[in-house]
Amino acid sequence: MVNKITVVGAGNVGATTAQRLAEKELARTVVMVDVMEGIPQGKGLDQWQSAPIEGFDSRIVGTNGYDETHDSDIIVITAGIARKPGMSRDDLLNTNAGIVKQVSEQIRETSPNAILIVVSNPLDVMSYVAMKVTGFPRERVLGMAGVLDTARYRSFLAEALDVSVRDIQAMVLGGHGDTMVPLISYTSVSGIPITQLMPLAKLNAIVERTRTGGAEIVKHLKTGSAYYAPSAAAVQMCEAIVRDQKRILPCAAWLEGEYGMSDLFLGVPCKLGRRGLKAIIEVELTREEQDALAKSADAVREPMAAVKL
Ligand code: APR
Repeated sequence: MVNKITVVGAGNVGATTAQRLAEKELARTVVMVDVMEGIPQGKGLDQWQSAPIEGFDSRIVGTNGYDETHDSDIIVITAGIARKPGMSRDDLLNTNAGIVKQVSEQIRETSPNAILIVVSNPLDVMSYVAMKVTGFPRERVLGMAGVLDTARYRSFLAEALDVSVRDIQAMVLGGHGDTMVPLISYTSVSGIPITQLMPLAKLNAIVERTRTGGAEIVKHLKTGSAYYAPSAAAVQMCEAIVRDQKRILPCAAWLEGEYGMSDLFLGVPCKLGRRGLKAIIEVELTREEQDALAKSADAVREPMAAVKL
C-alpha cells in the first residue's frame, strides 16, 4: 500500500477507478479531484461509506483543489470530455489537451515525485502533454490503453473459443485507436498458438472488433464512453506499481529508439515496478506487424503535431 493515490476527474472513469483502488487497498488515501463543485465530495463520501460493507480501510476524499493531493505517489488523469457517437478519440484533442495541461501544471507544483497514469483521450497525445508540461522523466509518465485493448481482445477470443478469459495470453500494441496492433503471433491459449485453434478469417474478425471495441460501446451508451474496463485497466497498472510486481503490461510509453522509433508515446510491452516504467521489452515482430506499428505511429504523430501547448 502507498500513502496516496490521486484520481483527477470524478466522472465515470475517475470515480470507478477511485472505488477500485480503495477496494484493493492500494493506498491509505484515495483523493478524487474534479472542477465540478460538490461532485467529487459527494461521490467520495458515498464511496467511503461502502468501506464497512466491502471491508476496506482506504479513505476516499473528494475535492475541487490540489491541497489534498499534495505528494501523491501515483496520479491517474481521467479529466476531460468523453466521446459521443460518431466522434473519434482525436475529436477530443484540443479540449482535452487544455484540460490535461492545466491539470499537469497543478501536479508539477503539488506532487513533483508522482508517477502519472494518463487515461484521458486521445491517450497517446495526452500522455505527451502531461510529460511535456510536468517535465517528469519517461519512467514516471505512462498511458493506459494497451491493457484495455488487450482485455477486449482476450474477452472476444475467450467467448469465441468457449474457454476461460484467464487462459488467453495476448498483447495489443500501437496507438489507442483504429490502427492499434493486436499481435496474432503472440496470442495463445495456455501456450497453444491461437492459429491452431481458430481459422484466420474468424481471428481477423475479432481483431477488427477489438480495434473498434470502444466505438461499439459508445454506440450503445450514446451519452459517453466505456468506463468499467478502462478503470480496471488503470488500476491493474497502479497495482503493478504499488506492489512492485514487475508485470509486463502493454502501456503507452515514450519511445527513445525502441522499435526503431523516437519522440512519441506508443503502446509497447512495459515492465512496471515501484518506480514506474522499469523497461520496455522489444519483441520480434513479423513484417506485417512492423508495418502496422509504423502506421499506428503515424496516426499518433499527426494529432501530436496539431496539439497546441
Ligand atoms: N480538472 C479536473 N476535472 C475535470 C477538468 C479539470 N480541469 N475538466 C473536466 N473535468 C472532469 C469533468 O468535470 C468530469 O467530471 O472530468 C470528468 C470527466 O468525466 P466524464 O465526462 O464522465 O468522462 P469519462 O467517461 O470519465 O472519461 C474521461 O477518459 O476514457 C477517457 O475518453 C475518455 O477522455 C475521456 C476521459
